[in-house]
Amino acid sequence: MDTYSRPKVAIVGATGAVGTTMLSILEERGFPLSELRLMASSRSAGRTIGTKWGDVVVEDLETADPAGVDIALFSAGGARSLEYAPHFASAQATVIDNSSAFRGDATVPLVVAQVNDDAIRSNEGIVANPNCTTMVLMMAAGPLHEAAGLRTMFATSYQSVSGSGQKGIAQLSSEIDFFNKDRDGLVSGGWEDPVGDLYTRPIAFNVLPLAGSITDAGYTDEEWKLVSESRKILGRDKIAVEPTCVRVPVMVGHGIATSMWFDRPVDLDEAVAVLGSAPGVQLWDDTTVPTPLDSVGIDDILVGRLRETIGFPGGIALFAIGDNLRKGAALNAVQLAELLLA
Ligand code: A2P
Repeated sequence: MDTYSRPKVAIVGATGAVGTTMLSILEERGFPLSELRLMASSRSAGRTIGTKWGDVVVEDLETADPAGVDIALFSAGGARSLEYAPHFASAQATVIDNSSAFRGDATVPLVVAQVNDDAIRSNEGIVANPNCTTMVLMMAAGPLHEAAGLRTMFATSYQSVSGSGQKGIAQLSSEIDFFNKDRDGLVSGGWEDPVGDLYTRPIAFNVLPLAGSITDAGYTDEEWKLVSESRKILGRDKIAVEPTCVRVPVMVGHGIATSMWFDRPVDLDEAVAVLGSAPGVQLWDDTTVPTPLDSVGIDDILVGRLRETIGFPGGIALFAIGDNLRKGAALNAVQLAELLLA
């Protein structure tokens, strides 16, 4: 694994919802970079962005020369990752890729900082940042798996619109404005469709029981990510995962309600002890139920509603919520970059 003491860092997709959060997290954490480069599409090229390290002019990814970049944080969509990440890696950069492009690749480690840090050592130039929903879930499931061996996991997500990028945030805002002019329609029926091509149905004042696109067996790509990424991160192919991914009218914060069963019964006292001392996790009790709004802008994953399963005894049920732009994406990417520091 390459290590760096004062690396030259590039953010690819620097103008997006995750890219801008990557920049603010690098600033907040005082990341010891020696040079910062920001890249996006030709639409943003030439724009100047003020940073802790001075003004930086956004470069067009298509024409940017990756020579000299040590660490590249990619969040510009899977197509850009597939096309440009190998190019950056062959120019000696270590790419931390937030897209799903390389997550299933056996030669690319999939790493949740504070859960499976050691996996990053086997990288060959590209490290994959997990899906934002899987990431939040793994922060709670990982420590329990370490203690008792995860076997079966039912997981239903409540995913915010910022998981769809800036477009998701804009869509929810405009639909809220639209529907606020017709409250009677929402209460009594007869509402008009706000129309938008991002989601299949209205998202404001609504819940979409389908996040992502249907792929195999009637499950969405988001749901399959929960299956395959959980197994890869926890290093156990046989974990049975039963996922349902739902989009909710929340700006930021992905929540997951899960029930988990292990190689042996786990009781509430043990789960409290394990999660109470897990790094990056805050355990909240039932008087301070963690909600998406509580998770916005903070680094920790919040875990609440912790209880023993009743239908199939011996397991643990909980609700985990995290800022999908921070730990779910940008923070984890920066934490992985920190693991690469000498
Ligand atoms: P731009 O702002 O110039 O379009 P989000 O997921 O929030 O929509 O952000 C996507 C990020 O990926 C943005 O920074 C966006 O840049 C960037 N991006 C999108 N398409 C391209 C492309 N073809 N080449 C480079 N960057 C791109």
